[in-house]
Amino acid sequence: MNNIEQTLSIIKPDAVERNLADDIKDIFKKNNLNIIDAKKIHITKDEASEFYKVHQSKPFFNDLCTYLSSGPIVVMILEGKDAIKNYRKIMGATDPKKADENTIRRLFGISIDKNSVHGSDSTENAKKEIDFFFKN
Ligand code: CMP
Repeated sequence: MNNIEQTLSIIKPDAVERNLADDIKDIFKKNNLNIIDAKKIHITKDEASEFYKVHQSKPFFNDLCTYLSSGPIVVMILEGKDAIKNYRKIMGATDPKKADENTIRRLFGISIDKNSVHGSDSTENAKKEIDFFFKN
């Protein structure tokens, strides 16, 4: 069965700032993740806090929201077979030092905070995250 899914990708400020968006988009295309919508935006800290609210009890929450709102980001809807799992595999572990070779975070991430990309972790969160950025 073809399990065609959509997932949300964010290219974070550290990667946008280093002009890595096109390199990252090339990796999506090579891995059969089609970009069906994309926009470059600069969100406020309040918007970042709303987006990351599942992490609000974590010690890193404040820094995380300050960081995501510190510069432009590129948000995208990716679509393809098993897109959620496929994207998480090519993204690599949250901490770039622990990510497998040739994953996006291993190639481009600087630290656990500046890890270049975000991706949805489940079908439910993919829908919520896509709606957050793309439903008006
Ligand atoms: P992301 O996949 O965007 O989801 C939450 C982010 O919190 C994560 O990537 C990291 O960039 C950031 N973060 C900072 N510290 C930690 C930590 N100790 N564990 C997990 N995520 C962290």
